[in-house]
Amino acid sequence: MESTILKTENLSAYYGEVKVLKSISLSFAENKVTAILGPSGCGKSTFIRCLNRMHELVDGAKVEGRVLLRGQDVYSMESTIVRRKIGMVFQKPNPFPTMSIYDNVIAGYKLNSIKLKKTEADEIVEGSLKKAALWNEVKNYLHKKGTFLSGGQQQRLCIARALAMKPEVLLLDEPTSALDPKATAKIEELMEELKKTVTIVLVTHNIGQASRISDYTAFLYLGELVEFGPTQKVFTVPRDKRTEEYLIGKFG
Ligand SMILES: Nc1ncnc2c1ncn2[C@@H]1O[C@H](COP(=O)(O)OP(=O)(O)OP(=O)(O)O)[C@@H](O)[C@H]1O
Ligand SMILES: [Mg+2]
Repeated sequence: MESTILKTENLSAYYGEVKVLKSISLSFAENKVTAILGPSGCGKSTFIRCLNRMHELVDGAKVEGRVLLRGQDVYSMESTIVRRKIGMVFQKPNPFPTMSIYDNVIAGYKLNSIKLKKTEADEIVEGSLKKAALWNEVKNYLHKKGTFLSGGQQQRLCIARALAMKPEVLLLDEPTSALDPKATAKIEELMEELKKTVTIVLVTHNIGQASRISDYTAFLYLGELVEFGPTQKVFTVPRDKRTEEYLIGKFG
């Protein structure tokens, strides 16, 4: 049985007076991967940044409509709690350069001034690195800087940092676009594993990636939700001509 963990209702977003998302209503199934596809500039990043209230951090940015996490409107919750429950990983791996691997993983606790006992911190670091499939590679170097890792390892460190906050939903904004094919394959494998415990929203330009690992696909075009459904169906019998044209590579 599938249940909806997160949904948007008539979600619109603006930068100043410019409306870049137009009344999007979309539900995310729990413990599934939902891919967000669409040409550059169509609003994918803006959309997922509205889900965890990052959009409002931009000057002049505005949101209309609702975002419900397990039925609760995230815009009536405390924003720091929303961002803890709905974690995010960006395109470019961005571990904190001055921090050790260990401190990077628990950085969210420090930033939120949440005190951890040493044994608790040790457990969270080990557990999160294991979940991010990085533990074996770094367990002997926990107190070295995170920046000496490869790009793929740095991205898995960022995933560990997000997982450390025990999020219910993980937003990934083109998490592999800066990585080579091998590091990409490793992260795709990881997403398959992670969805057992966390719901994943994946923005990607990589159509192959969406078809390999997502359960559902949403296609955005010029700020509108043009198509949504089970990935298998969207890829084989898209309802909208624009989806079909995108999938066969007519526009980027
Ligand atoms: N900080 C900002 N201020 C003003 N306009 C912005 C800002 N960020 C994005 N936009 C505009 O909002 C629209 C949607 O951008 P967004 O970054 O969400 O698209 P995207 O689908 O993620 O694109 P890409 O695939 O290139 O990452 C674009 O027209 C973009 O120019
Ligand atoms: Mg983007």
